[in-house]
Parts: sequence; structure tokens; C-alpha cells
Amino acid sequence: MSRGLLGIEDLSRDQIEQILARARDFQPLQNQSNKRLDLLRGRLIVNLFFESSTRTRTSFEIAAKRLGADSISITASGSSVSKGESLVDTLNTLAAMKPDAIVMRHAASGAPHFLSRHLPTPIINAGDGTHEHPTQALLDALTILDYRGGLAGLRVAIIGDIVHSRVARSNIYLLSKFGVDVVLCGPAPLLPPQMAQLAPGVRLTHNMPEAIRDADVIMMLRVQLERQNESPFPASEYYPFYGLRVQHLELAKPEVLVMHPGPINRGREIASDVADSRQSVILNQVENGIAVRMAVLERIIQ
Ligand code: NCD
Repeated sequence: MSRGLLGIEDLSRDQIEQILARARDFQPLQNQSNKRLDLLRGRLIVNLFFESSTRTRTSFEIAAKRLGADSISITASGSSVSKGESLVDTLNTLAAMKPDAIVMRHAASGAPHFLSRHLPTPIINAGDGTHEHPTQALLDALTILDYRGGLAGLRVAIIGDIVHSRVARSNIYLLSKFGVDVVLCGPAPLLPPQMAQLAPGVRLTHNMPEAIRDADVIMMLRVQLERQNESPFPASEYYPFYGLRVQHLELAKPEVLVMHPGPINRGREIASDVADSRQSVILNQVENGIAVRMAVLERIIQ
């Protein structure tokens, strides 16, 4: 098993705290005119994305550059994967070019875990199917800490298409390790009862006002139509019951934080005025993505 970052589930509280502490060192860099450090000078990072991405891919690329590393990005459509090459062959080909880490996103849950058993190169999971998206949960935790100072005792409502969400799973693992009261909310087909077993103390409700009442943080999720192979949940029925609107915010704590990993679908899972409200920290999450990914790259490569 190579060193890498495959998920939050296997990390200890200490390891998570170390990554977040290091990310905090990197946060001020974003506002300096010279944003570049030389900590990973001469190192090579390959980003291999088999699924679409705006934030995560750009953020990993910028993080690598800010550390002084070289990075290249490959998308599946422009690679030999479209010529029938197997995943293991593609990864072995890239590993033969001696990168120091491979950042990968794949539609199959467990793909990076499988590959990490066959490759000498450390793999960083940038999202595997419906399973985990560890750097997203880390940047979400950093964002909450920026505003609240600590995690223990907070109430976080995660709302939407939970069953298909790797963001939800990684956040559930992380938040429950730190004593957060996690409430999951969504329509029954997108929130099956077994989701409560992901971590101790996780609660489920299908009632949105109940989930939001007294919440410190509301994390909204996109409806992942690309993963709903069965019959997709009807859009017209979703928003009235599970779309976050201004009136919902009054049920939460006064300084509630509204989060969303993006891409947001305005008027689908979140009202436009809520996404742009002063409670919304959606762009702070994006900003923190760079500092967190710098901390992860440095930790894995050095
Ligand atoms: C998420 C993802 O790809 O899992 N986006 C992201 O990385 N910020 C969530 C989503 O696609 O809805």
C-alpha cells in the first residue's frame, strides 16, 4: 500500500488536525502578491480526471504551482482511455514517468484504493464515485473552523442527495470524529436508512425544517443526476421540499453558515439569494481548497 490520501475514514483526529494546522499556515499566502513557495521545487504531480471538475482540478493545479512543483493535467476524453486502455495500464504508464504523486478522480467507488495496491506512486483521491472526496471534507472543516473556532458540539445539517454524495460521506466521517452532531436530510430515495450507520450518532430526517432547526452549519448538496441510474428524482418535486430558501435560515442559529461544495444549481437545491447571502461561505470554501491541497501535497510528497 503506497502512501497517499484515499479517504477520511482511515485518518485519525491527529492526522486531520495536522493537515488543517498546516493549511492554516498557507492561508495568508492567497492574499500576498508573491504566492509561490519552493517547498516542492522539482517535484512532479499528475492530475488524472476521469470525471468533470472545475474547482477540484484547478485547485490541485494551483496548490502544486504555489508549492513550486510541476503539474500536468490529463482528462479521460483526451487520453488513451478512450482507445480502450485499462485503468491499471494507464496508471502504470503515468507512473513510469516518475511523478511524485497522482491526483485522481474516477466514477468508480474504490478505483484509487485498487490502484494504490498496484502502483508505487502515492495516490490522492479527488473523488471516487459515491465513496469519498477527502480534500473536500478537509476544506469544509477548515472553513467551519475559520468562523467557529472549533467543531465539537456544533450541529451540522447535510441536506440533499446524500446517497450519491462522496462529499457527504467524507464529511460524515470527519465531523463525527470531532464530536459534531450530524443530521442528514433528503427525500427517502436519496437518503436510505443505512446512511445512519456510517458513523456513530448520525441522525436522519426527511423533514427539512427539522434538520435545519438550531443548525450551526447547513451543507447543501447537488442532486447528482449522473449517478441516478434508476429513475431520477423529479426536479419539480425536489425544490419545494428540499431547496434551501431564505425563510429556512430563520430556523437555524442566527449566524448559521451556508455551505455547498459546488457546482451549485440555483433554484434546484438552493435559492439564488441564499447562495449569495451573507451567511453563504461557498466561495470561502473554494478559497480554502488551495491551502488544504497544499497541505496534503506537501505531506504526501515530502
Ligand atoms: C463535488 C464532487 O465532484 O463530488 N464537487 C466538488 O468536487 N466540489 C460535488 C458535486 O459534484 O456535486
